[in-house]
Amino acid sequence: MTQDELKKAVARAAIAQVIEGEIVGVGTGSTANCFIDELARIRDRIRGAVASSEATRKRLEGHGIVVFELNDVAYLPVYVDGADEINTAMQMIKGGGGALTREKIVAAVAQKFVCIADASKLVPVLGAFPLPVEVIPMALGHVRRELARIGGKPQLREGFVTDNGNLILDLGGLVMADPVELESRINQIVGVVSNGLFARRPADICLLGTAAGVKMLTADRTVETEAHGPAAVQPPSSSATSQARGGT
Ligand code: 5RP
Repeated sequence: MTQDELKKAVARAAIAQVIEGEIVGVGTGSTANCFIDELARIRDRIRGAVASSEATRKRLEGHGIVVFELNDVAYLPVYVDGADEINTAMQMIKGGGGALTREKIVAAVAQKFVCIADASKLVPVLGAFPLPVEVIPMALGHVRRELARIGGKPQLREGFVTDNGNLILDLGGLVMADPVELESRINQIVGVVSNGLFARRPADICLLGTAAGVKMLTADRTVETEAHGPAAVQPPSSSATSQARGGT
């Protein structure tokens, strides 16, 4: 199977995570785009979506899916997004598409983070993919020096401005032995808006596209799924919904 076919397979599988009649958070990137195309087929069965970038907003609206502002949404049961790298603890590097800050905000609001990725994204240790760091433009020099002080090699993403009007430094050369500590440490640098480590809020599950089908990974186990079965929105289960809302 090609990488594109694997992305489409995980996007199809992710439809089963969407809760009927609710709003779904939608990530950014080529895998998220495959998910949006699948979501279009069930658009009449959801209330709408929250977008993690302007590109995602445009694609959702192009498919006739209602896009809500996050501030108008009090309850977001599920967020579906890709990753640049994911480890077995479900911690990720994200932001290859530069949307890391909005992705992190939507992920923080969502009850459940569903990562969709092809098998190449699963790594034993995070860090081969340079870590994107979103920076306020006037702080660029300062942040670049501070990142070098913690041992990284920051590289400005040339000609790129985020949806928030900021710059991206891609940080290579770091050993990520403790992603939670590193995420916090980088966020402490004045001028950093956010960084692409999703370790403090990892994914809850990962739908991983492999040649043998879509596997569902959580931090402690792997479950085989119906890789190529028909896509179906989960029927709203009153007990599941009440638990997700914090009920008993
Ligand atoms: C965008 C992201 C993407 O999720 C990440 O870059 C993966 O993208 P793709 O699905 O195209 O490989 O974080 O900011």
